[in-house]
Amino acid sequence: MSDAFSKCRLPQEAEALHASGVYPFYVPIEERLGGGEVMVRGRRVLMAGSNDYLALADDPRLKAAGADALRRLGTGNSGSRVLNGTLTLHENLECELAEFLGHEATMVVSTGYQANLTLSPLFGPHDVLLADRHIHASLVEAIRLGQARLRRYRHNDMAQLGHLLETADPAAGSLILTEGMFSVGGDLCDLPGIAELTGRYGARVILDSAHDVGLLGAGGRGTAEHHDLQSAVDVQTLTFSKCFGSLGGAVAGPRHVIDYLRHSARAALFSASLPPACTAAALAALDIIRTEPERRRAVLTTAERLRSGLTALGFAIPPGGTPTVPLQVGDALLCCRFWAELLDEGILANVMLPPSVPEGKALIRISVTAAHTDAQVDRLLSAVAAVAGRINTISGRVPVAIGGRDGA
Ligand SMILES: Cc1ncc(COP(=O)(O)O)c(C=O)c1O
Repeated sequence: MSDAFSKCRLPQEAEALHASGVYPFYVPIEERLGGGEVMVRGRRVLMAGSNDYLALADDPRLKAAGADALRRLGTGNSGSRVLNGTLTLHENLECELAEFLGHEATMVVSTGYQANLTLSPLFGPHDVLLADRHIHASLVEAIRLGQARLRRYRHNDMAQLGHLLETADPAAGSLILTEGMFSVGGDLCDLPGIAELTGRYGARVILDSAHDVGLLGAGGRGTAEHHDLQSAVDVQTLTFSKCFGSLGGAVAGPRHVIDYLRHSARAALFSASLPPACTAAALAALDIIRTEPERRRAVLTTAERLRSGLTALGFAIPPGGTPTVPLQVGDALLCCRFWAELLDEGILANVMLPPSVPEGKALIRISVTAAHTDAQVDRLLSAVAAVAGRINTISGRVPVAIGGRDGA
């Protein structure tokens, strides 16, 4: 009999990265030093890979709220929301989020990934699901758990989406699934285009707002508010691990939809609820998101400096104006070498390799937060310029930026 564990080997590519000393994953952060810097391998480095866009994970108000909840309610809830694991704190957060986002109801779950899995009961056997090619892995997983027929459309390609809607079975319920701000490309979905199509064909819209709630829109309500199209979105998922500086997630939408998910989403029904400290920190973050728009303005101004600096260096930067920028290197090993050299220069960025991106489109993902200063961005740009120069010498190729994950 063959051993079921025989498949448990590192992929050849990972072996090669280890052998070359440029393995870029699971790098431990030893300390958070404040001011957008962390300690890695005994050195102070600039964190250029975090989604803590508003720099709240280190905010004393979130820490105090979390510590107080932890003292009062303990470290965990030891139960799922449906049984013994619902806290008044969860309900408070749900009420505040629903009011903030302009949805009838919200359901708080334990991660953003889980929030997306929670959607799967909406994808029934008589539905057709039209999904952007660049959607996050957790949405892909939710689709697998559901039963709807899947049609993918090319990233933000409204002509193709229109064609799919036009030719969809009129007896089927149509759902459009996209991210508000795409996590790898940092670009926004074409919500005006989607709203125009749903006006014509009557489909429901589900928006993963993991990256944009807190960051975009005058009031921080995300891509929908940015486009002044909040009523065009039927259901929204979010995470507390990015702008909220905590952990957890939520699904927001019409009350009957959220009530249905509360009683049918196995991903949430059979999993323990969000711990008190994370819930209280998310509540404190929501208060800051509502009352301190200057944090959004600060990070978007810093993003502009990063984007124009990279453009001046010759990189093709996708539009969007957001704090996340992909630099396409192409070859996976070369990309990891780029990452390792950036770390040598004191910059910790992220690497995206296939299957997260298409074959041959490995990229460095850089992001900035409200904690970063102009001087830090300039240091980051100098490091990118120095490394790009060296990598070009090695490979004879110029890294360029791309918009995301076609075919992923
Ligand atoms: C678009 C998107 N959706 C969902 C998630 C999952 O969120 P979490 O990390 O809170 O589970 C992420 C996280 O990377 C994401 O980028």
